[in-house]
Parts: sequence; C-alpha cells; structure tokens
Amino acid sequence: MADEAAIGVLTSGGDAPGMNAAIRAVVRTGLQHGRKVIGVQNGYDGLIDGAYRPLGARDVGNILTHGGTMLYTRRSERFLDPRRQVEAVQRARAAGIGTLVIIGGEGSIQGANALAGHGLPVAAIPASIDNDVFGTDLSIGVDTALNTIVGAIDRLRDTASSHNRAFLVETMGRHCGYLALVAGVVCGAELVLVPEQKCGAADVLAAIRNAHDRGKTNAIIIVAEGAQCGIGELMRAIEATDVGLTARASRLGHIQRGGSPSALDRLLASRMGVKAVQALAAGQANVMVGLDGNSVRLVPLAQVIGRKRAPEDELFAMVRTLAL
Ligand code: F6P
Repeated sequence: MADEAAIGVLTSGGDAPGMNAAIRAVVRTGLQHGRKVIGVQNGYDGLIDGAYRPLGARDVGNILTHGGTMLYTRRSERFLDPRRQVEAVQRARAAGIGTLVIIGGEGSIQGANALAGHGLPVAAIPASIDNDVFGTDLSIGVDTALNTIVGAIDRLRDTASSHNRAFLVETMGRHCGYLALVAGVVCGAELVLVPEQKCGAADVLAAIRNAHDRGKTNAIIIVAEGAQCGIGELMRAIEATDVGLTARASRLGHIQRGGSPSALDRLLASRMGVKAVQALAAGQANVMVGLDGNSVRLVPLAQVIGRKRAPEDELFAMVRTLAL
C-alpha cells in the first residue's frame, strides 16, 4: 500500500541556476514536516520509469552553490501522451509518493497541471532563465543568467571600443525578449531586437550609423534568439553597407544556463521551495509558487496555464531613451 505522506520532487525542462537550491529547500522543509522526500531523476521521464531515490538532509548538502540539477532534467516527449501520465501517477503512488513538487518552466508547469488532472496533488516552482512563466515576477535562474550576460557583454564592449566596432550579441529566451531587454538596459545597448516587436536589418544599420555619427566608439546590439532577424542575416547586411563601424557577432548560447546561482536566485529558490512544501503539507495543492513584488504567494495552476508572462512595457522605452 502506498505511503501517501511522501513528497516527490523533480526538475524538468531546461536547467536553470538555482534548481539545486530549490531541491534542497523542498527536501529539508519536507523532513522538518515529518515527511519522507523522494527525488525523481530525469524529469517526467523518470516519473514514468520509476527513477526514484529517497533524499535525506545530507543528500542535498553542498548543492546550494551549484548550477544544473542534481536530479537531472529532460524535455520529455513521452510524457505528452496522457496514457503515460496515468502510468506515471500510478507508479509514483506505488512508490509512496502522495504529492509532488515540480521545478521547471512553462512546459513543465503544464505537465504539473496534467498530473493534477489525473489526481496527483502537485505544487509547481517556476524555474527558467526565459522569465516567461505567467503568475510570477521572476523565475529561478533569471538573475544568474542576466549576471552571466552582463559579464559577457561588458567584456565584448572592451574589445568593441578598442577596435571601433559594433557587436551583435545573441541572448537566449526562446519566444520571450525579457533577458535581451534587461541586458539592453543594464549593458547600455543601442538597440534590442526581441520577438515581441517587429524589427529588420534597416533598424540595426540605422542604429549603428547613428551611434557612430553621435561620436560613439562602439555599439552593442542585442538580438534575442526568437527575434524576427537572426544575427547571421544582420551581419550580412552590415558587411554590405558602410555604417561607420565594423562588426562582429557573438552568440552566448548555453553559457547563460550554467554557473553558480546568484544570491538572489538562491534566496528565491529557497523561499519558493519552503512555500511549496508548506502548501502541500497544509493540503493546498495544484498551485504554483509565484513572486509578487517581494512576497512569495500561491497561484492556482488554472490561472497560469495557457498564459505567458510578457516583458514590462517600460523596458522597451528605457532601452531607447538611455541609448542617447
Ligand atoms: O528555456 C530555456 C532555454 O535555454 C531557452 O532560452 C532556449 O530557447 C532553450 O532553452 C534551448 O533549449 P535546449 O537546451 O534544449 O537546446
């Protein structure tokens, strides 16, 4: 007979710095509540396959400072099949898992909602560098990714200004321009190209030429990966035109997903992990933990599913104003 008291925890989707801090918080808070905690490895694939291991307080020692996830993660295709979801719930229950904490991004939270629909009480914790999860001001991993981007662009500016160059820098974010826009404000970009706005090579050529004409020795253009123009196409346009500065391109790639989580991400992950377990222990299930201003609150999954968080309007205007 299944022990309904155990809390399961898994990470799913793209890893994000701070996932380990969230796992640690879930495990230790669960133990404080007198619950067993079972780690599920490899995301939803592991839930289907029964890749379970009990986690004690010492099993999550020394992970707070590490990026990635000690439970491993997957983007599970198999879990999209509702029959697999039912199997996963049956297998989890047979292993003594009564409730489950899911740490991941938008797709993973949809998976959590599916499990809730099959009768497994869940709590979701938003973790994705993209910051596109609806219902939270910030997801775990965003702050660390931004610090990585800032460090990289600051270095690129050193070399750009020495050579009188423009740099096109591609940031991650899938269909969301949040990382690119915030990086644009805090790194002083001339222009930021994001999926949320129409843009073309002509905008980039004009921005570089204007920067040069206003006496700038370099220009940083940030291109979100989902923008309508890719950096390859933009480089070809720049090379075919005299815009006053020569140009180079740099794609930051998965470097943005790694590294030791920032203090802010460790704190956010710890607060969210504690809150998720407190909710489940109090019988409040099928919720996501969200940051609302400076408060960590529970949001019903039904309010989160099918919606996407968009970057704040003020970011778009700020990039333009501050590039003077
Ligand atoms: O969702 C996080 C993210 O890094 C996105 O910004 C990016 O589009 C995607 O994951 C990359 O996915 P993968 O690691 O599977 O290549």
